[in-house]
Amino acid sequence: MTKVLEVTGLEGGYGSVQILNGIDLYVDQGEFVTIIGPNGCGKSTFLKVLFGLTTHHKGSVLHNNIEVSAWRTDRLVKRGIAYVPQVDNVFPSLSVNENLLMGGINMKSDEITKGINRACRMFPDLKSRMNDLAASLSGGERQMLAISRALISNPSFLMLDEPTAALSPRYQKEILANIDRLRNDGISVLLVEQNARLSLARSDRGYIFSNGKVVFSGNAKSILNDPDIGGYFLGVNT
Ligand SMILES: Nc1ncnc2c1ncn2[C@@H]1O[C@H](COP(=O)(O)OP(=O)(O)OP(=O)(O)O)[C@@H](O)[C@H]1O
Ligand SMILES: [Mg+2]
Repeated sequence: MTKVLEVTGLEGGYGSVQILNGIDLYVDQGEFVTIIGPNGCGKSTFLKVLFGLTTHHKGSVLHNNIEVSAWRTDRLVKRGIAYVPQVDNVFPSLSVNENLLMGGINMKSDEITKGINRACRMFPDLKSRMNDLAASLSGGERQMLAISRALISNPSFLMLDEPTAALSPRYQKEILANIDRLRNDGISVLLVEQNARLSLARSDRGYIFSNGKVVFSGNAKSILNDPDIGGYFLGVNT
């Protein structure tokens, strides 16, 4: 099976500060893969290194068998990779519609319209808010907008950093269900999540990070059902 992403021995961080201490991870075509782990263990840093936003020190990153480590973000977007950051993922002073247009910079207007229509189908709540400022959206609506904006570029591989953090259970479920459905459109997904139980329940596989390393990886259901891992990372016995 083609691997959308194949990371081997990745080291990286912020300038000379090393945070990632040799990560091995892959995402198969059509997979939904979740990364969990304690605060500060390097989950966000990992996605940022992959997306060319912070320093790659060492190791290989293959996207569809092409080496893309340390590529610039705009080149990665052209290859079909998209990313939804953990924070500051919408422009509050722009309208919903303008935010979506920003996701389609350098794209033809009919392609942008297609992307916006898809966003409205995916998140009907956004449709009635098109002319409102993003600042006026609820936390859940902001995440929906951030995901929709990332999808305007019509990616085949989407990375998301904690899209359900601090949301109500209703929004958490709705957003994760929509991310899961992206696979029907041929989009492979790599998700960093605090809501480990909810996201692993929908994932194919999971990785547990600690201190800039992968400490466990495996089938998502078996992670959910492993009493040791569950007790420690998923808060089952606490
Ligand atoms: N811009 C930065 N410059 C220097 N160090 C940073 C920067 N951003 C994060 N770090 C450090 O990198 C380490 C990993 O942070 P990171 O944000 O990747 O963790 P995380 O696993 O995403 O945590 P969380 O679950 O809280 O989002 C932390 O020690 C953090 O202090
Ligand atoms: Mg983070």
